[in-house]
Amino acid sequence: MTAQPRLTVIGTGYLGATHAICMAVLGYEVLALDRDHAKIEALASGVVPFHEPGLPEMLRKALDSGRLRFTTDIAEVAAFGDVHFVCTGTPQLPGSLGADLSQVEGVVRSLAPYLFRPCLVVGKSTVPVGTAARLDALLQAAAPSGSHVELAWNPEFLREGHAIEDTLKPSRLVFGVPSERARRLLEDSFRPLVEAGVPTVVTDLATAELVKVAANSFLATKISFINAMAEVCEATGADVQDLAAALAYDERIGGRFLKPGLGFGGGCLPKDIRAFVHRAEELGTGQSVSFLREVDAINRRRRSRAVDLVREQAGGDLRGVRVCVLGAAFKPHSDDTRDAPALDVAAQLHDAGADVVVFDPQAMDNARRTHPQLGFADSALEAAADARVVALLTEWDQFRGLDPQVLGRVVGTRAVVDARNALDGRAWREAGWSYRALGCAGVA
Ligand code: UDX
Repeated sequence: MTAQPRLTVIGTGYLGATHAICMAVLGYEVLALDRDHAKIEALASGVVPFHEPGLPEMLRKALDSGRLRFTTDIAEVAAFGDVHFVCTGTPQLPGSLGADLSQVEGVVRSLAPYLFRPCLVVGKSTVPVGTAARLDALLQAAAPSGSHVELAWNPEFLREGHAIEDTLKPSRLVFGVPSERARRLLEDSFRPLVEAGVPTVVTDLATAELVKVAANSFLATKISFINAMAEVCEATGADVQDLAAALAYDERIGGRFLKPGLGFGGGCLPKDIRAFVHRAEELGTGQSVSFLREVDAINRRRRSRAVDLVREQAGGDLRGVRVCVLGAAFKPHSDDTRDAPALDVAAQLHDAGADVVVFDPQAMDNARRTHPQLGFADSALEAAADARVVALLTEWDQFRGLDPQVLGRVVGTRAVVDARNALDGRAWREAGWSYRALGCAGVA
């Protein structure tokens, strides 16, 4: 095997596409596969099929280098790669807390029969602990080159909106490996990062799988902690923003992921904590992570509380009330609407009879597709026209920068719910708005 292994990336969603593009820019020969022909055609022609700042420019660079190619043929991938990165999704199973592993398992099953030469299969997807060991047995049984095929786990800590930075300058690399040979091959696959001094934790498969879910559980817990404090603040007249600021000065606590508001959503945090609870219960250690059920419950309660605030601003009844919803993506700098708190709240408002009009700078297509029952506008001002209540649900910079006077001229009533604590409440009040925020007592 060469010092610079040839890489394949299987699954070109947020994770896989970013990984494939960045690895090619770093100098590796990369072949990326997806079963979705449209996605592969788009990427091969230089179009990133989702919103990720900087990625289109990086794709262009990678394609121009001639080192990045795309395919839908798994046999070609098997023949090409020394190291195969599996980057398929593990969404929540319908009707269960558990993760749907069919895509990851499907990749291993379809790849294995074509593995005629020694290689390393590396899982990057987030999976329940124990999955890698099961997939390894599957590989060994089905791959023609048998024990010359090994399985490793290399969890990804990529944040949407910061995907390139998190891939090229990760906080750490975690290599779950079964052998010294696998470790060397993984190190060769990340040589520029290892040489740049990125801290590396070399461990076993189970620990590598757990690192990812433990990290996401910690982050979710931190967010729900401050949102639980927000509930107490709402009941006592205290101010959760000041509380969070004071906590953040303690370096042991720190201010990151301590922003109170509408809570977490997206394709990772919510389903990962649920899958962790599910797996721990299967393993008989459910008690150890039962607090994650509470973390989830606190997070959901923020969404109901936001609906309640809009109802209060509307005078107690949402039926027939025009509500302007600012935001649909689960967070700014993303067009991802998976388990998006903003859309969940918008749908609940709609179900309560409100006439909801949504605007988001990037997520309109996704929002329209998943929530066709809602109304949509082409700008914040258009969405706010004649609104009885404006609800800021995703903290895009362009919403933070809205002029309360300008917006005030188009709305029906100057009433706003700031569910992300993103606005300057005093300025909005001074402009004649009734301003309510999550985590503050009910002053108008
Ligand atoms: C997350 C992890 O950060 C990443 O390491 C992992 O690999 C995948 O899952 P991502 O889903 O892109 O990344 O979003 P992240 O930036 O972590 O935000 C998650 C959610 O928490 C968002 O809905 C965000 O609005 C919310 N959040 C974040 C808060 O409500 N308060 C905070 O203080 C921080």
